[in-house]
This record gives sequence, C-alpha cells and structure tokens, in this order.
Amino acid sequence: MEQFDLLVLGGGPGGYLAAERAGHAGLKTAVFEKRALGGVCLNEGCIPSKALLYSAKVLDYANHGSVYGVTTTGAKLDHNAVIDRKDGVVQMLVSGVGAKMKKNKVTVVKSTGVIKGKTEGGYAIEADGKEYVAPKLIIAAGSEAVVPPIPGVKEGLAAGTVLTNREILSLRVIPKELVVIGGGVIGLEMASYFNSAGSKVTVIEMLNKIAGPTDAEISTILQKNCEKKGVTFKLGCKVTAVEKGAVKYQTADGREESVSCDYTLLSIGRRPSSAGIGLESIGVYTERRAIKTDEFMRTNVPGVYAVGDINGVYMLAHAAYREAEVAVNHILGKKDRMRYNAIPSVIYTSPEVGSVGETEDTAKAKGFDVKTVSLPLVYSGRYVAENPGGDGICKLVVDKKANRLLGVHMITPYASEIIYGAAMMIESELRIDDLKEIVFPHPTVSEIIREALFEI
Ligand code: NAI
Repeated sequence: MEQFDLLVLGGGPGGYLAAERAGHAGLKTAVFEKRALGGVCLNEGCIPSKALLYSAKVLDYANHGSVYGVTTTGAKLDHNAVIDRKDGVVQMLVSGVGAKMKKNKVTVVKSTGVIKGKTEGGYAIEADGKEYVAPKLIIAAGSEAVVPPIPGVKEGLAAGTVLTNREILSLRVIPKELVVIGGGVIGLEMASYFNSAGSKVTVIEMLNKIAGPTDAEISTILQKNCEKKGVTFKLGCKVTAVEKGAVKYQTADGREESVSCDYTLLSIGRRPSSAGIGLESIGVYTERRAIKTDEFMRTNVPGVYAVGDINGVYMLAHAAYREAEVAVNHILGKKDRMRYNAIPSVIYTSPEVGSVGETEDTAKAKGFDVKTVSLPLVYSGRYVAENPGGDGICKLVVDKKANRLLGVHMITPYASEIIYGAAMMIESELRIDDLKEIVFPHPTVSEIIREALFEI
C-alpha cells in the first residue's frame, strides 16, 4: 500500500491537468491511465483530427489557389503520410504531458485503476495488484462513443468497416464511399477531412439540422458550405441497418432508402465511462451514467470529485481543464467555483464555427430581454481580402435590460482563435458601452465583433 494526498483516476485533459496543478501545489499525487496520457483528446480526438484537417486545408488551398492568382498542378494528398505526421504530433504531445507529470513529481501509474472502497488512509485504488490510498480522489475517467443497437453495427465494428473516432483517425485507406452516422462535431470534422481527401461522403442525421445546438442559421450556412464541397446530407433520417456495403435508413416521410459505402463512421455522441471503475464501492451517485457534481466539482461522497466528460456537463477538453482547476483549488482550500456561462465551442470545419454563451433561442427560453445583431462577415476587410464569395456571419445575442453580451456565434476562418475574446467579454460581464472601447487590430476578421457591437 502506498499513501498519497490525492489520487486521480484517468489521464486525459481533466485528469492530467488536475494532477499537474496538484503536484505543483505540493500534493503527493498519483494519476492512473490505462491507455496513454492525454486521453481521448490527445490520442484519438481533438489533436489528431486537427492534424488531419490541416492537411486537408493545405490541399484545398493548393487546389483552389487560382482564385488568388496561384496555379498549382498535381496537388495530391498522401493519406499515409498524413497519418504518419498525425502520429508524430500525438507522440510529441503525449511525451510532453509525461514530462509535465515528472516536473510536478506526479506518480504515473500506467494501468487500469479500480476504486476499492475506503480504508483508514482514505479512498483506495487498486492497479496492477498494488493498492494506492489518499484522502482525496478526483475521478476523470472520461467518455466513450455511444454504440447504438442498430442491426449490423456490432458486426461492422468487429470487421473493421464500422469505425468510431478511435479507429477512423488511424485508418490507413481513404474510403471510396464513407457514410457518417450523426451530423454532430465528430461527424462534420471527419466528413470534412475525408471529403477533401477524396471520399464520397454522406452524412445521415436524425434531426432536421446538423451541428447539434449550434445557432440554426449558422448550421445552415455550414451545411451549404459542406455541400458545395461535395458532402451529401440526409437530414431527419433514421438508420435502420448497417450492412456489408450499405447503410439503410428511413426518411422523415417513412421511405426506406439506402446508401452504398465501404466504411461507416459512428458519431452519434459519447457517454460517460462510469461503469467498471468501482464507483459503487464508495457510493458515488450517477444519473444516466454521469457523476453528479456541484459548482466545486464535488460528488455526493466527501473528498471525491469528478471532472471532464464523466460528469456529462460539457464534453469538451477545455471545460475539463477548468473543472480540474476548480476541484484542485477546492482541495487546497482556495476560493474558486465552476461557471459554465462562457465555455466556447468550435467546429473545425472549413469555414470554422465558433460559439460561446446563449443562442437567441436559449436566451429567450431563459426569459432574457433579447436583442440579436447579425452581420455578414463581408463587413471585415480582411475577410473580403481572403474569402472571395464568402457567406460567413457573426451574431451577437444581447441582454437588452442589463446591456450585456449573452452569446457570440460566428462562421468564418479563424473563428477558433477569435472566440475566446468573446468568451472573455461574456465572462467579465462588461457592459456593451465598455466593450465598445476595446481596440481591435485592423485589419482582422475579429473586428466583426466590434462592428456588431455598434449595431446594438
Ligand atoms: P454530438 O453529440 O456532437 O453529435 C451527435 C449527432 O448524432 C447529433 O446531431 C445527433 O442528433 C445525431 N444522432 C444521434 N443518434 C443518431 C442516430 N441513431 N442516427 C443518426 N443521427 C443520430 O456527438 P459526436 O459528434 O459523436 O461528438 C461527441 C463529443 O465529442 C461531443 O460532446 C463533442 O462536444 C465532442 N467533440 C468536440 C469537438 C470539438 O470541440 N471540436 C470535436 C469532436 C468531438
């Protein structure tokens, strides 16, 4: 048995950041990771997908350079080289996380940890036949792809023709025809890459719009941009069977149709990985697999916290980072609390979608006195210089009564790098008049926010 101050179950963004911060503050900390440090985000999610999407972007620039007066012939994507480069990026960052653990004197247990109950020294985790004990425990075991009971899915997964985010990011062939089930973030980003790489891509989405909770007008613009590049969407359709060489689905008006494919991506959402980690041994409360947490990331069990996808609040790495800090600060007795009103989200398609805060619909539903301003991106000089024919927009959702910003939503290149500025505006609760005094660099795409502020 080895005694620690803090045990962290899971080495993804929530877990490794918690361990890093706790180690830095002088707590004797151990982190348990059964696969690779960095979790889904670093190994089979955010980072590898960005590496792939950047290759697609370079190819697209090369192929469409003539609009900018640049002609290229024979631009080709070498998918194997793309995957090799992605693997290199992942390896480099995973070893970077390892180095951070070392620097902060965190013990990394590269094995499956299972909570075994409470002993005198605190909560016990067993890994590789050894027991680790600490009075504080942070559970950060993440999430897994939802696998629906659709006929043929299980068999397809076993045969390697049905893929989740894990397998598709290491697929060594470019599918001739790829069917994507689920038009959410993963589905759209992968559809975007494989469409550029040469696959014929069809996205089947159950709802009548893509991109989940994204502002409806922005979803439509994104869909049109993807369609223009060759992606086909089947909206309001329910997949009924995945067969060898085809996916069958039922349309909104009840017709049975099918689309042929050699590979199928399953991207219909993720669910907390709360089974099999011993939660019942200490009585941690869950609802629909998600561990319930409060604003300090505490669970119902004293001294036990849950951060990241496992609490099911925001399945985003950057939300997990912040939750990890809040949990560690609570353990250290520092004043802090989790707020979810300004968590940005991005879809890394071309163009990108960046959103933060309330949409017009959610703000109205919450009873705010809402004013929405929507501007076309052509108000930005840089956007016009770089995006001939671009149809991007930027929307501000404002609380008229409080004269404050509630949400910002945009579809444009660079949205991923701009949206944190909007998050700062919302988080700082500055009045619109104060925001108007902020100077933006010119010419930038970000200036669209300043333009829109003056339209309120
Ligand atoms: P998602 O929740 O974003 O989208 C799933 C989509 O599948 C929804 O539009 C849903 O209506 C649809 N769907 C559900 N069941 C279906 C069915 N049987 N047939 C057809 N459509 C169906 O989930 P996704 O894309 O799997 O992503 C999982 C998580 O990963 C999300 O929580 C997301 O936030 C995170 N993520 C974030 C990224 C980012 O921030 N850029 C990138 C990739 C993933």
